[in-house]
Amino acid sequence: HLSEDQGWRIEIKKYPRLTEIGSKRSETVIGRNSGRYDGKPYGGFYTQEQAREIVAYAAERYITVIPEIDLPGHMQAALAAYPELGCTGGPYEVWRMWGISDNVLCAGNDKTIRFIKDVLAEIIDIFPSEYIHIGGDEAVKHDWYKCPDCQKKMKELGLRNEEELQAYFTEQVVEYLKSLNKTTICWNESANSGKLESSVILQFWSDGKDNENVIREVKNGRKIIVSKFNPYYLDYPYPMHSLKAAYEFEPVFHGIEGYEQNVLGVESTLWTEWIDNTDLLAFRVFPRLTAVSESAWCDKSKKDYLAFENSLKNV
Ligand code: ACM
Ligand code: ZN
Repeated sequence: HLSEDQGWRIEIKKYPRLTEIGSKRSETVIGRNSGRYDGKPYGGFYTQEQAREIVAYAAERYITVIPEIDLPGHMQAALAAYPELGCTGGPYEVWRMWGISDNVLCAGNDKTIRFIKDVLAEIIDIFPSEYIHIGGDEAVKHDWYKCPDCQKKMKELGLRNEEELQAYFTEQVVEYLKSLNKTTICWNESANSGKLESSVILQFWSDGKDNENVIREVKNGRKIIVSKFNPYYLDYPYPMHSLKAAYEFEPVFHGIEGYEQNVLGVESTLWTEWIDNTDLLAFRVFPRLTAVSESAWCDKSKKDYLAFENSLKNV
């Protein structure tokens, strides 16, 4: 996850301002958006050389690093660097708050697609993965409703709503990646229009209002990765996402029984905005990740939580 509202984290040679400006924020909000700020500048990014080193280290251990550039939302840091890519033209700042920024890429501007293709060309050169993740979660549409360019594009293409505009925007990127023999992964909201390009693998995280859409997609043959927020988000504390819940949750969840062949696997996420040291990181990850792993490879009928808990005593 190399791009966010709060920081851009990978060197892109064609767009140096992404890291010169986009990788730094002036300060960070205290707690969960209290309105008070810590006054401390924060920043950092991987050079392409450092990223290649990580890819090689992982490859030696049979691990593939899949990069994500999140679009069209979660792009405020990039917009701070290149405001002409947004609907309003800015100015934007690298976000000092947490959550979901309203500022997204303009989907009616051909410059935006050019920018994304250029960025992905460099990303693909660094990360040889067959899969490329292009985000697509939490793409707030406020600006698109008001933007003359976005509205003009929708008219031109006969799109019925802004969700379809996201599907169109995504498809441009998916087709580009296909031309380079890459398969695209998107977060599940990308399928809300019902028009998502068929080869895209959907990563299911946002349990609740989007479930119906995900179930419809799976039943229509869509391949998915299961990362359901509760319990697979490991940045959340154990009292919220318990070890037992992580173990007992069935990746072939209620509503998609019989469509196991469309579930490619599971993935746990760990977001670090609330985790500033490796001890806490390790505590959040282990042993929950072992529970998620066992869920991924163990037949439902063979799951036994007490046996699993006992086995941890030997770790
Ligand atoms: C996500 O957690 N917004 C994918
Ligand atoms: Zn726009």
